[in-house]
Amino acid sequence: MTQRTLVLLKPDCVRRGLVGEIIGRIEAKAGWTLSALELRLLDRGTLEQHYAEHIGRDFYEPLVDFMLSGPVVALVVEGERAIEGVRRLAGPTDPIAAQPGSIRGDFGTSVRENLIHASDSEESAIRELKIFFPGLS
Ligand code: RTP
Ligand code: MG
Repeated sequence: MTQRTLVLLKPDCVRRGLVGEIIGRIEAKAGWTLSALELRLLDRGTLEQHYAEHIGRDFYEPLVDFMLSGPVVALVVEGERAIEGVRRLAGPTDPIAAQPGSIRGDFGTSVRENLIHASDSEESAIRELKIFFPGLS
C-alpha cells in the first residue's frame, strides 16, 4: 500500500546539523522516495492549523514558540506503508523512552525538542499535506 506522509524536521534538528543523517535514514528504506523537500520558516497560522488538536494544552504555546525558533525542513515521503514506517523510524514522543535505533531514541532527550514530526494516520497525512504542500498533485 503506497502512502504519502508529511515529515517535519524540527528546528532542533536543523540547528544541530542532523538533517542529512535523518533524511539518510528515510532514503535508506527500500523503495521510499522524497516527493517534496523544502527548508522553511513557519508562521503561527500554519502551526495553529497543523497542531489544531493540541490548542489549549499546557504544552501548546511553548511548542509553537519552539517550532517558530528557526527553520524546519518540510518533506513528503512516499512509499510502501510510509505513514506507519516513518512513525516507527521516529520512535515515540518522549526520546528517553524511545528505543535506541530510532531517531528520537538515538538523538533526543527533550519531549518538546524531539527532532521530527510525522503524520500519525492516513487522515492526518491528507490534512497535513494540504497545509504544507497544497500544490502537490
Ligand atoms: P508529532 O505530532 O510532532 O509528530 O509528535 P507526536 O505525534 O509524537 O506527539 P504529539 O502528542 O502529537 O505532540 C506534538 C508535539 O508536541 C510536543 N509535546 N510537548 N508534554 C510536553 O511538553 C509535550 N508533549 C508533546 C512534542 O514536540 C511533540 O512531538
Ligand atoms: Mg502528533
